[in-house]
Amino acid sequence: MSLPPVLISEEAIRDRVAELGAQLSADYADKGNLVMIGVLKGSFIFLADLARRMSIPRTIEFIAVSSYGRGSKSTGAVRLVMDVRGNIEGRHVLIVEDIVDTGHTLKYLIGVLEAHRPASIRTCALLHKAESAEVDVDIDYVGFGIADEWVVGYGLDYAERDRTLPYIGIVTPDDR
Ligand code: IMP
Repeated sequence: MSLPPVLISEEAIRDRVAELGAQLSADYADKGNLVMIGVLKGSFIFLADLARRMSIPRTIEFIAVSSYGRGSKSTGAVRLVMDVRGNIEGRHVLIVEDIVDTGHTLKYLIGVLEAHRPASIRTCALLHKAESAEVDVDIDYVGFGIADEWVVGYGLDYAERDRTLPYIGIVTPDDR
């Protein structure tokens, strides 16, 4: 089986993650210890790289939600699989997502985390499929805007395949 064609190279990802890390470090410089919440599983590589590109005090949490089936479109129904374990009340929170497609997942996550009464919630997504938006949700930090195609690699999968590719690749119709 051939490798998925490259949409965003390893170098381009590395440069953009470094930029985001610098921007976040500046924006949160005076705000105390930032809680970065990675959304499992897709964000685990992005979160690991982003967190190591930052220069402010930060702690890491994870949250898990159900994802769609095998490469299909979101139904809008999102289910909480694992909530954050640490106490985030009164803390500044950054949700770290791999990709925002319809926006249903991010909107749902904001609701779940608001119930923990943090001081603030901002959102960061490596990828954004702006054309696919179905709900209005603010993404404060975006790595790259992409077209409505299924992408894999750098944490993202297609039916659990290609998660550990070092670049973002496009799933071609032949691979589906
Ligand atoms: P949303 O609720 O439609 O915004 O979908 C967000 C979630 O769908 C992401 O966290 C991913 O798990 C998954 N997803 C959406 N598009 C893609 C893609 O192109 N590749 C891999 N996962 C995707």
